[in-house]
Amino acid sequence: MADERRPLGNVVAHPAPGGTRDQLGRPMHDLRISVMDRCNFRCPYCMPKETFHDRYRFLRTSERLGFNEIVRVARAAVALGVRKLRLTGGEPLLRPRLAELVGELSMIDDVEDIALTTNGVLLAQHASELKANGLGRVTVSLDSLDPDVFARMSGGFGGLDDVLEGIEAAIEAGLGPVKINTVVRRGANDHTVLPLLEHFRGSPVIVRLIEYMDVGNRNAWRPEEVVPSAELLQQVAARWPVTPLPGSYHGEVAKRYRYDDGAGEIGFISSVSAPFCGDCTRARLSSEGVFYTCLFAANGTDLRGALRGGASDEELVSLVRAAWTGREDRYSELREALRRSEHPLQKIEMHYIGG
Ligand code: GTP
Ligand code: 5AD
Ligand code: SF4
Ligand code: SF4
Repeated sequence: MADERRPLGNVVAHPAPGGTRDQLGRPMHDLRISVMDRCNFRCPYCMPKETFHDRYRFLRTSERLGFNEIVRVARAAVALGVRKLRLTGGEPLLRPRLAELVGELSMIDDVEDIALTTNGVLLAQHASELKANGLGRVTVSLDSLDPDVFARMSGGFGGLDDVLEGIEAAIEAGLGPVKINTVVRRGANDHTVLPLLEHFRGSPVIVRLIEYMDVGNRNAWRPEEVVPSAELLQQVAARWPVTPLPGSYHGEVAKRYRYDDGAGEIGFISSVSAPFCGDCTRARLSSEGVFYTCLFAANGTDLRGALRGGASDEELVSLVRAAWTGREDRYSELREALRRSEHPLQKIEMHYIGG
């Protein structure tokens, strides 16, 4: 079995020529698959404790797509041009036997890159099995190395040591380049950004600083809490001079820089101050099987109903194609106008579609 799997390592996937395009001419290149709506953290900007409490009703196991169903959707998306798969959550490592799913996805012809976004707490336990089954690389969410700030940003849970161990284990297992996603929220963790960068300078880990976004409907986002990337870049460059790097692929969300002293690379993800909708090639599949064409979508296409109602592979491809070809989304570009509207969107919650 293992021999049939192709190494997916650090390949940079490119859009398939002639793939399906949306209303703005954008190809569908990435499919982000949420495998689990639960999480073992309660980051206030994603799953605030007040809402996601002990009695919150998460999906039942039977309501989540099974592995065979996920693989069928992935195949349909690949037939339409997708080359890159990313597993997300909630926390994807809470999904039992996740490595088996990775194994099945890695055998789909034409998939060039399989990545995982995780909070890292369970990563040390799973890194080598995931690698053996064909996972290419991991991205770990980590907002601060200060234990108190970390605890506040993750909703009061411990686990900082486990996350750091998970990052080490991922590097050792060959799941690189390991990236860190750091959401920066003014007044919460912005004062700990430089120490975090300092910690990872000189290591193979690439930190990406993300502008705090108004995802979902429950994170009480305020524009004042966004630290624009330009401001962060200034702070970083004042300490360690940096030079911009060219993008590594079309539609990349991070603007990359290298430290001039050779200590590695960092990235800035500026979806609030510099929206990148024009190049957005990402489709999302929620854990309950709804296909979304935007992180901020209010509606999607129910594929679970089709899958469980006996749809053929061709019918599935048609449904996904129709959703993508009809796509006009560019939420981040329209954010201001939409937020001023009298009828604000009821957006899908982040933990259903994984960021
Ligand atoms: P690489 O493949 O390593 O370049 O990573 P990626 O950019 O595909 O994925 P990742 O999940 O690491 O993205 C980092 C973060 O950027 C996400 O967690 C989101 O916060 C944000 N992000 C990613 N895609 C989008 C998008 O389509 N729209 C918006 N607004 N934000 C996005
Ligand atoms: N703003 C920006 N990024 C967010 N993420 C979750 N919520 C937000 C938000 N409100 C990021 C997390 C993680 C990924 C899944 O999405 O940091 O890296
Ligand atoms: Fe969990 Fe990630 Fe959301 Fe935090 S941001 S609650 S780790 S899914
Ligand atoms: Fe893509 Fe929507 Fe994000 Fe714009 S806001 S980059 S369309 S996911």
